[in-house]
Amino acid sequence: MITHERDLSIDFCGVKFPNPFLLSAAPPTDDLDMVRAAFDSGWGGAVLKTTSVETESVDLVYPMMSAVHQDGARIIGLGNIDLISEHHIDVVEQRAATLKKEYPAHVVSVSIMGTKKEEWQHLVRRLEDAGVDVIECSFSCPQGSMGEEPGAMLAQSIDATERVTGWVKSAAKRCPVVIKITPQVTDIVKVARAVKNGGADAICAANTIPSLMGVDTDTLVPYPDVVGYSTYSGMSGPAVKPITLRTLAEISSHVDIPITATGGPVTWRDAVEMMLVGATTVQFCTAVMHFGFDIIDDLCDGLAFYLDEKDLAQPAALIGKSLQRIVGHGELRRDAKMVSSLIEDRCVKCDLCYIACRDGGHQAIKLDGQDRLPRIDTERCPGCRLCVTVCPAEALEMAKAPA
Ligand SMILES: Cc1cc2nc3c(=O)[nH]c(=O)nc-3n(C[C@H](O)[C@H](O)[C@H](O)COP(=O)(O)O)c2cc1C
Repeated sequence: MITHERDLSIDFCGVKFPNPFLLSAAPPTDDLDMVRAAFDSGWGGAVLKTTSVETESVDLVYPMMSAVHQDGARIIGLGNIDLISEHHIDVVEQRAATLKKEYPAHVVSVSIMGTKKEEWQHLVRRLEDAGVDVIECSFSCPQGSMGEEPGAMLAQSIDATERVTGWVKSAAKRCPVVIKITPQVTDIVKVARAVKNGGADAICAANTIPSLMGVDTDTLVPYPDVVGYSTYSGMSGPAVKPITLRTLAEISSHVDIPITATGGPVTWRDAVEMMLVGATTVQFCTAVMHFGFDIIDDLCDGLAFYLDEKDLAQPAALIGKSLQRIVGHGELRRDAKMVSSLIEDRCVKCDLCYIACRDGGHQAIKLDGQDRLPRIDTERCPGCRLCVTVCPAEALEMAKAPA
């Protein structure tokens, strides 16, 4: 149960969320009992997994998951070859109606995908009738090809994005419409403008990153191995967070539209970072698939403590607050020289800083003393920070260069 008592509510397109955290369209929202369990554990909102019309066939393949692991850390990146929900609109509209009846204060959103104008509009009408709060449109489903290139995602076509957004918006009489895009484009700002020009109420940025998750060097088959063959996965989880942050920052710096973030958050701090670069709410998927619904307690507690610490009344006060700190490379100051500096009692003498600086930096670290402690030659050190990033013991930090 949530232990904090602070009001964490936030307004998103006129819909009140109890806190800025919700479940994204994915396996955790593809089953009625699972969404009930999520709501019972404190999640205030959920986007039910993408559904379509009854005639759309969804042909799933197993195994569908693989992951990037590193040094024993599990799921740095999660790859999936899942498709949209096997449950069509007839099932999902029932679920949405049931959830709204049982949990009237919770936000129920449904993700939809059509292939024709009539389908998109039909889905919108049925979900509005079922009582959902928000309609999210997946323009980034791997099988949703309505773009200009065969096989391309809808959001990879600027024209199609604007046109289909307009169709959905003209059918929606009550619910805010959110368009879920893909970060896999050359210019995300153009896509976001197309979403805005099409009339959408908000944008969901972004989604998984098309990836090849690895290759089994014994069998030569890439992952996941489906009877000797594989295909490209969508990668989610912590590995994609920096791409999400860049996507959010670019959109919110150029297009005036509310954003719900997706892609990489695990902790409350990840979510705060996303809000600081423009997100109003933050969606979670991989973190829940890894650690379960109960992470909502830490998310809410962490956010509450952070707001207290920063003396901020509401989560909304965070939105976009770091954007002004992002400038062009040419505008960054060149006159504040920093150098790396050792915190001696933390050093574990692993030599990694020395090796990295010797072979990949500026040969500014020496190991010539009896004690084997790294010594920084502040004349040679330009302050590139490579040594800080490789140190496993946080024994190096940046400091002002000696005068
Ligand atoms: C197995 C799996 C299935 C997914 N299915 C959908 C889907 O049906 N519709 C959709 O819009 N996004 C889908 N997603 C994407 C997630 O909603 C989310 O945007 C993505 O995983 C990035 O967030 P994360 O890093 O928190 O996982 C799926 C993700 C996973 C891992």
